[in-house]
Amino acid sequence: MVYNLSSEPLEFPSDLEEFILKELGGSYKSEPVKVKQTLNYDENDLKEYLGTYFPGSFSESYAIFSNIFWNESIKNNFEIKKDFYILDIGGGTGGNLLGLLWFMKKFFVEFDNKRIHIVSIDGNDYALNIQRKLLEKFFPKNSDFFYKNIILSRNNFKEMLRNVINDYEITIKFDIIMSFRFINEFYREYFLFDWYKIPGTDNDRIIKYLRETIGINLLNEATFENDGRIISISNAKSSLSLEIKDYETAILIIDGKKTDEFIVKKENNNINIYLDKYYKNKNMYKIMTEAVSEYLEDDGLFILSDVTDKIKNDDGDDDSWFLSKIMNEEIIEYLNSQRNKLEVIIPLSCAVWHSFCKKSRKCFIKKEVFLRNSKCVTRGFKYSYKIFTHKNLALRVLQNINKQDRYEIGEKWICIKGVHSNRNKDKAVYRDPFSFDDSSKIKLERLRNGI
Ligand SMILES: C[S@@+](CC[C@H](N)C(=O)[O-])C[C@H]1O[C@@H](n2cnc3c(N)ncnc32)[C@H](O)[C@@H]1O
Repeated sequence: MVYNLSSEPLEFPSDLEEFILKELGGSYKSEPVKVKQTLNYDENDLKEYLGTYFPGSFSESYAIFSNIFWNESIKNNFEIKKDFYILDIGGGTGGNLLGLLWFMKKFFVEFDNKRIHIVSIDGNDYALNIQRKLLEKFFPKNSDFFYKNIILSRNNFKEMLRNVINDYEITIKFDIIMSFRFINEFYREYFLFDWYKIPGTDNDRIIKYLRETIGINLLNEATFENDGRIISISNAKSSLSLEIKDYETAILIIDGKKTDEFIVKKENNNINIYLDKYYKNKNMYKIMTEAVSEYLEDDGLFILSDVTDKIKNDDGDDDSWFLSKIMNEEIIEYLNSQRNKLEVIIPLSCAVWHSFCKKSRKCFIKKEVFLRNSKCVTRGFKYSYKIFTHKNLALRVLQNINKQDRYEIGEKWICIKGVHSNRNKDKAVYRDPFSFDDSSKIKLERLRNGI
């Protein structure tokens, strides 16, 4: 399987596909709405995830590493390592991890003699169990797996990460830290309940929210009353209310104090109440980058990758809610903060021009990878990512590249020295900011023939 410079599709490895479909029960079912919140997926949901979305993460990761290991400064560091330490945050069923390991197995000299130590964190135990089965099947001889089933939260992210790493090995630093398709789940509006179904079928949704988000356990003894504008909930110990303030907002009041705020939407004949997770969790990309910088080896790589779609569905013309733009805004702010321990090396437009970037929230930068399965069905996956290293390595890597004034951002946009600009009638082809060197055919040949 080869992927780097051209847009030819990757072939999904047939033994992996067969194992997923036959042994793990994977099946194809596109669930564009449901897949936005996977933390509470059950075993059946995960089978559909495996057959549908796992291949996307696999191919995104494979393509990223195919490109990054072209760079001599990076490849040389990695090839000589006998022990590899990998940390995967929100690793789920393991799509991106398998993509990385598959690439290493195929192209790293003496891969079988290397020892791969994997630390994987996720809030879904079923998903981690699948990840373990995949590792046992395909990398049984030279990998070991430490997994932590915890639900991470924005407010104590750094502390939770420190605890996991202390539980594993207090002095450890990682060669590769990655997080794929994870942070978007912290930002999406979350459907809580239908106002008209209280009291009634949605009581349990409120009970669950109060338990998981606010820390109040009502058990099942609570009474619910709804006068149209105020829902009152009480049991022997607690009493609280949810109040609709206006057409767009509702609030939760506990002991006379406003404790949370919700979005109110009239949809069909329902009044649906959503949790506004973006305002609660804002800056997660930045927080994660700051947190992981403590645990990255001097020559290590941190790959932060996510889906690119919007976190709000009904905001009409407001196109600032694309995840790719939110990631840009937070990461450019991090890079320009002067307190950053890491630098971006990919995309090159951000690496070279971030200090001139004035419209980060406007820049929709994305990559697409194509994957072909055994039935010759080809699917495309869009994603956006940044690769970080410590400053010394970034300097070494970037001093050897041919820096450009213009990079290709999308069909309509280019980055001109950090300024996000409309192409207008400019039909020229500019450099791909995700690729270190997209001109060298020789390297493609080397990849084809094995390094
Ligand atoms: C869409 S899946 C991505 C999994 C994997 N990285 C991939 O690309 O295939 C997102 C993962 O994040 C996990 N997750 C979401 N929110 C979480 C949280 N707050 N704490 C821990 N894990 C969480 C989910 O359980 C799920 O496995």
